[in-house]
Amino acid sequence: MLIIGSGLAGLSFALKAAESVHVAVITKNELKETNTWYAQGGIAGVMDLNHDSFEKHIQDTLVAGAGLCDANAVSNMVKQAPKLIQELIDYGVDFTLKGGQLDLAKEGGHSVNRIVHAADATGRVVENVLAKRVKNHPNIDVFEYHFAMELLTEHYLGIKVEHLPDIQCFGVYALDIKAGTIETFLAKKTVLATGGIGEVYAHTTNPTVATGDGIAMAYRAKAHIKHMEFVQFHPTTLQIPEAKSYLITEALRGFGAKLRNFSGHAFMKDYDSRGELAPRDIVARAIDDQLKKRGDKAVYLDATEIESSSLLESFPNIAKECAKHGLDITKDIIPVVPAAHYLCGGIRVNEFGQSSIKHLYAIGETACTAVHGANRLASNSLLEALHYADTAVHHALHHFTNTEFSVDIPVWDVEGTSNNKEWILISHNREELRQIMWDYVGIVRSDMRLKRALRRQTLLYHEVEEFYHRTSVTPELLELRNLISIAYLIIQAAMKRKESCGLHFNIDHETCSRLSIRDT
Ligand code: FAD
Ligand code: SIN
Repeated sequence: MLIIGSGLAGLSFALKAAESVHVAVITKNELKETNTWYAQGGIAGVMDLNHDSFEKHIQDTLVAGAGLCDANAVSNMVKQAPKLIQELIDYGVDFTLKGGQLDLAKEGGHSVNRIVHAADATGRVVENVLAKRVKNHPNIDVFEYHFAMELLTEHYLGIKVEHLPDIQCFGVYALDIKAGTIETFLAKKTVLATGGIGEVYAHTTNPTVATGDGIAMAYRAKAHIKHMEFVQFHPTTLQIPEAKSYLITEALRGFGAKLRNFSGHAFMKDYDSRGELAPRDIVARAIDDQLKKRGDKAVYLDATEIESSSLLESFPNIAKECAKHGLDITKDIIPVVPAAHYLCGGIRVNEFGQSSIKHLYAIGETACTAVHGANRLASNSLLEALHYADTAVHHALHHFTNTEFSVDIPVWDVEGTSNNKEWILISHNREELRQIMWDYVGIVRSDMRLKRALRRQTLLYHEVEEFYHRTSVTPELLELRNLISIAYLIIQAAMKRKESCGLHFNIDHETCSRLSIRDT
């Protein structure tokens, strides 16, 4: 089996699959450079039946999703959470304990404390444990710095497939970045676990690997893509000019921190009775509104009223990061702004993580499982990655046959010559695209802004396609091409949705009435 991506989804699939079959994991950077590694808040799960229930977690998820969740998918995921979290503990993940029990934190949209976490660095702790196991596993080969370029389907065999559901995946073509060669990876089952798309926006919490490659590849291979308009903007990233984007976890608000504007007013209750713990779309829009109305550069997270020692004990990494910029979180307010954070849509899959292409699975952030609907509940994405890795691995193993391929697979056709003089255009185009998306397809959209974005995206598309067909490939060019497809998919989906709903807020369209998420 072939797994592309080494975040929580890819690695947990790999470890389970490797109990029965040989597995290859390819990843375009070093193993740990993933969105997973940067996750802070934690993993949602019902771990305390005295105060919580599956029904409550399901209901909170459905409410945040604004009527567009698949209720069965949500129910399945929520009910698996305790088992999946226990598996991580059994692997050796040390989650934070309080009085010998899991310490459960609270985040926006959750009606009770249910976030299992490892202080404020959950992703790093989980990724470290899984990466170590994967690297030492005799049944797993890891290929770092290998960039999956294209899904190998009939298209590359010169076979025309009349009906889309008949398209099959035989593996991928991948660029070995260090050697500069293009390799063919054949597999009976291919799993896309390629993560998110944050890099398509000028401001993002995601690392630069999050360029939506899996979705772009699947789109080119004619897979069904869904809900791309639902991009989540995290309300609070540290606003320090010139510094790398850094998330300030929602758990800090769950711990009692308040959002204030430059005048010191705690404004969240003006927008929603749940205040700081309203779902993320509401908090991000409230901040956006404050910034636009007041012309300020940031709003402020105020944790100064929280008892200092427990604040520092619970958020040691945030305290350290803020200190680098001269901020003492026990005494100073923290300047924050929203940034692109998470994609709810992606490659449409069923309950087993199967895409619309045969033998191709998609799991984790790259997939659209419909558990998030129009807006993801905080800390449900690590859970989704775990759950779909689990259900997909069982399905893939059950349907695994060791027969040889009956088709001849061609090697990648290396066409084009590199033209070094023009490489600078790649970085210029990337920056241009990211700014267009931020300016016109961001937290607040309008029909006019979307049209403007599409016109500019189309121009970039033609420039880059022309460049792509006459030069040899590099990771930068491949990423740019993928980002342009992702931008197109987001803009198109946003234009098609003639309502405001969850994360998609368009001033020219009414708010959807399927399920009110206000003050429920
Ligand atoms: P990732 O972890 O992003 O892994 C994707 C992998 O695919 C990477 O290894 C990447 O290099 C590889 N890849 C991509 N393209 C290619 C290619 N073409 N070829 C080869 N390899 C490729 N969620 C929560 O539930 N709780 C949280 O507390 C939380 N906090 C977060 C904080 C931050 C700062 C961020 C950015 C996200 C957070 N999230 C959180 C979201 C969550 O971390 C992600 O949704 C989740 O980790 C995605 O896991 P994944 O395995 O699907 O993808
Ligand atoms: C956070 O810690 O605020 C991020 C949680 C998430 O994205 O689910």
